[in-house]
Amino acid sequence: MSSQLVYLNGEYLPLNEARVSVLDRGFIFGDGVYEVIPAYGSKVLRFEHHMQRLQNSLDAVRIVNPLVNKQWQDIIDKLITNTDSQDQYIYLHITRGVASRDHRFPDETKPTVFVMSSVLHPVDEKLLANGVAAVTLDDIRWQYCNIKAIALLPNILLRQQAIDKGAMEAILIRDGNMTEGAASNVFIVTHGIIKTPPKDNKLLPGITRDLVVELAKTHNMPIEETAISEKEFLTADEIWLTSSTKEILPVTRINEQQVGNGKPGAVWQDMFQKYQDYKEILRG
Ligand code: PDD
Repeated sequence: MSSQLVYLNGEYLPLNEARVSVLDRGFIFGDGVYEVIPAYGSKVLRFEHHMQRLQNSLDAVRIVNPLVNKQWQDIIDKLITNTDSQDQYIYLHITRGVASRDHRFPDETKPTVFVMSSVLHPVDEKLLANGVAAVTLDDIRWQYCNIKAIALLPNILLRQQAIDKGAMEAILIRDGNMTEGAASNVFIVTHGIIKTPPKDNKLLPGITRDLVVELAKTHNMPIEETAISEKEFLTADEIWLTSSTKEILPVTRINEQQVGNGKPGAVWQDMFQKYQDYKEILRG
């Protein structure tokens, strides 16, 4: 793994030789943004959508995009073809760059750009067969959860709290409504209707989320983007988590209570299959 090729500031080099300064504002302040992009059969899933979200994150934190989409595409293609595995995820990280430690933006710095590609392991069959456990926790994060910021301390504290309670994910509640997971978006099914919260500053606009919404609409499955109260959430017939690395995972236990009949639901099964079909078409 350490000999894996990565991209850092214009160079391709082995991972164990990649170095950044301790004065990098990513290290000092968590001042940067990132993307996680899955690739199936060496084909990147929704490249344009990921690039648009990256641009939105960069604009929100006032970092000028150091590369154009064609350059991002070339870097990703080179890293993908250098890795043996067919299914991979690309981690792309941009910080404001290296400067003496001062909270204000430095006058002139070059953003630090780091890209690596790792094996995307298929989700464990047992998790798909049985579903996973989740717990609800207070959403203690900031007001700009739509920015894919590298400063993830609240997210990792929340995820770890969930793990400490024997669950896989923390599902977050803010002002009485469910927002998203510590590293995932959340869907519910009630009375046959799929629901997910609308996109705003309280959650990350997940690329997987948007694809699931699109697939539901294409296949005439009833779907609503609407606020979901904690009460409605806790009594849902089905709960799903979505993310680029976990795809669509059924939650079958919430706060140690069974969700629905305690098995992955029929609507999840249907959507999961549609997502797999979408991947197969991408693979070609
Ligand atoms: N996280 N919400 C949060 C807070 C996330 O961190 C993620 C993904 C998502 C889902 O977004 P997408 O469908 O675009 O992956 C929602 C990635 C996978 C990570 O940090 O590793």
